[in-house]
Amino acid sequence: MSKAVRFEVSDDGIATVTWDAPDAKVNVLSGQAKADFIAAMTGLLADDAVRGIIVTSAKDTFIAGADLTFIQSLRGKPADEIAPLLSPLRDFLRKMETAGKPVVAALNGTALGGGLEVALACRYRVAADTPGAQFGLPEVTLGLLPGAGGTQRLPRLVGIKPALEVMLKGKPFDAAAGKAMGLFSDVVPADTLMDAARALIDGCDDPAQPWDQKGFVLPGMDVESREAQGFFQMESAKQHAQTRGNFPAPIAILSCVYEGCRAPMDVALRIEFANVLEVFPGAVAQNTVRTFFFSQNAARKADMRPDAPALSIDKLGILGGGTMGAGIAEVAAKGGINAIVIERDEDSAKAAFDRLKAGLEKNIARGFLTEAKRDEMLARMTFTSDFAALKGVQAVIEAVFEDRDVKREATKKALAVTGDDILFGTNTSKIPITQLAENTTRPDRFIGMHFFSPVPRMPLLEIIRGAETSDETLAHALDLSKLLKRVPIVVNDGPGFFTSRCVSTFVNEGMLLLRDGVKPAAIDNVSVMSGMPAGPLMLADGIGLDLMLAVRKQEQADRGLDGQMTPPMEVLSKLIEAGRLGRKNGKGFYEYTDEGPRLWSGLAEFWPLADDQPDAGYIARRLLHIQGIEAARCFDEGVIDAPQTADLGSVLGWSFAKHTGGVCSYVDMIGSRQFLAECEELAASAGDRYAPPAYLRSMAAENRGFYE
Ligand code: NAI
Repeated sequence: MSKAVRFEVSDDGIATVTWDAPDAKVNVLSGQAKADFIAAMTGLLADDAVRGIIVTSAKDTFIAGADLTFIQSLRGKPADEIAPLLSPLRDFLRKMETAGKPVVAALNGTALGGGLEVALACRYRVAADTPGAQFGLPEVTLGLLPGAGGTQRLPRLVGIKPALEVMLKGKPFDAAAGKAMGLFSDVVPADTLMDAARALIDGCDDPAQPWDQKGFVLPGMDVESREAQGFFQMESAKQHAQTRGNFPAPIAILSCVYEGCRAPMDVALRIEFANVLEVFPGAVAQNTVRTFFFSQNAARKADMRPDAPALSIDKLGILGGGTMGAGIAEVAAKGGINAIVIERDEDSAKAAFDRLKAGLEKNIARGFLTEAKRDEMLARMTFTSDFAALKGVQAVIEAVFEDRDVKREATKKALAVTGDDILFGTNTSKIPITQLAENTTRPDRFIGMHFFSPVPRMPLLEIIRGAETSDETLAHALDLSKLLKRVPIVVNDGPGFFTSRCVSTFVNEGMLLLRDGVKPAAIDNVSVMSGMPAGPLMLADGIGLDLMLAVRKQEQADRGLDGQMTPPMEVLSKLIEAGRLGRKNGKGFYEYTDEGPRLWSGLAEFWPLADDQPDAGYIARRLLHIQGIEAARCFDEGVIDAPQTADLGSVLGWSFAKHTGGVCSYVDMIGSRQFLAECEELAASAGDRYAPPAYLRSMAAENRGFYE
């Protein structure tokens, strides 16, 4: 088999080691590639005829990073088992930098994560000015930390503050920023990269790394200074506030830098390794990698797409130019698709267009959009009340008011122009797709396409199959999703589909805890501490209490329980009767004043506090377990059939505690038997809604998780 790394030695004693993984678009640090690199380098470092080594790549990029499949294989394993798997590259990089020969990384393109760590262990780094090339240590975004010396070499090279900025945010930067930071000796035109690397070898007067030279001083802030004490305290508090202590990686990075920078390099590397051995096999890192890397990438690539000829779309019809319709038009135009937005009259069309334009201007002011891109986007959009403008579109998405009659009328008018065989998606948030499909003669071409607000910032797209939706239509909806750069999940029809029904259980549970006399501040605070972005009471205020009550009334009617109030509905209607509609009128569970939101003191009169207040663990279980139960019910009812769907839908759709990796991973973290026992306990103390569904029972009986 050909090797992932090849090398040659020139007459003047400079070796070039080139990463070029066979049959792959990019180089990753796979086990084989690492072994090939170590073998080649070990020979060259020992070869007296070689006076310096250049490390580069034959791909468009340098090294893309770690092999995440390998990282996933470490799940739950003890330190002594994974240490020998993780140490060869780390140990070798230390040997390389202390071998007495200058090694130069010639970065022809992107170097991220482990790729940049290889470069950091080189004596010099020079980057080509390749357009779009990115550099950085993004490990933290996947719940990991740089594990090949990065937490020690980067601060020694560029200083503690810039290094932590790179590692704690995980945001990639370009070559110019890398040079400004002191990471690269130089940034040069691509065709002079190798000459520049050679010049660095020729000019090298000490092959030892700066940190191994006598009298080395850390650039920037001294780790022993009072400034550093204050800085680390602040950073640690900031990280705890941001992650609620739920993500171990940022705290591990801080402690690696704080402790490591006070020690000589060999000790420092051991400190980093101890953190790596703890964080990498842990559930948070493993679930984060699974959901945010593997599941998300598989969804973006539409791995679940049924086999069918592709639908090419360059003109998309959108019915309704409100919050959602305009958002969809914006992402369509951004992705190069012409968007024809139909409004109910010309005034509404103009108003919708003006709102969208004003939004784009704001983006320009914030530096997110260029004027040229805005002009390009606007040129691709038409806002009109004339349905005839839909002629020639290849797909339609309906986003008019959430009202069956309005939807029927708009759908029929659109189909009269396009013909019923067109791909027709509805953005309804709750109305069953199978029922809306009755508005067309081709229910097989009809599908739910549930976007999230604000569309430009929320990438999830919940695609809902109606009873008669065909495979081809699903395939075409996924084609459209790709063009709109969404992360799709595919679910089956059912009340509230998947995302809306699960998030409703969370908001309802918050109201039930209030009714049970639990301190309202505890309800919202425990939610946030558990990783939810906001508490259920705050969330309810944001949605609008009257809107929530209306939706729940409709749900009851759909179940044939017209006029019957559930306990959460009673909570809502008490507040509504008191004139409290939520954030929109400044009065809901909270009071909204210029000083910010404060819980309304009158809540205690409606729902007196219980004498015995439950502990945080109990409140957290009630708020999160109910969502896990609802997800399991969705399996029972055939709404979903894969934990990846539920996990992606939950973290991207309603920001379910991200450190868990999603609602199914959350249950797996607890273990199905333990989760079942806790639900049974809650069913006895808090109500039947905690009665474990069959899917959960069978998981516990077989002692397996959603993923096993
Ligand atoms: P919206 O009220 O902001 O916009 C609806 C637009 O439809 C209005 O501009 C209205 O003038 C237009 N319209 C009404 N009747 C029409 C007709 N016959 N022909 C053409 N246009 C017509 O509502 P929003 O929030 O954009 O919601 C639209 C749909 O998306 C609803 O079904 C809603 O349930 C759903 N949805 C809303 C989400 C949200 O967060 N706002 C999230 C996901 C789905």
